[in-house]
Amino acid sequence: MNAYVDPDLCIGCTQCAGLCPAVFQMEGTLAVAQPGPIPPEEVPQAVDAANACPVSAIRIEE
Ligand code: F3S
Repeated sequence: MNAYVDPDLCIGCTQCAGLCPAVFQMEGTLAVAQPGPIPPEEVPQAVDAANACPVSAIRIEE
């Protein structure tokens, strides 16, 4: 699974980076997702982060 942050939607609320710092980091005021597959042990936290995003900017795909 891979995570993506839509930079046009992200409002920089930082919840994703707080919930799953292994996958999401803040770069300035926007979050970015680590490229490449999400480590299996991080998938639940990444899904939590996607669900927590108030503007649904995070996509998690196979
Ligand atoms: Fe942005 Fe949503 Fe994360 S607004 S900082 S992608 S929780």
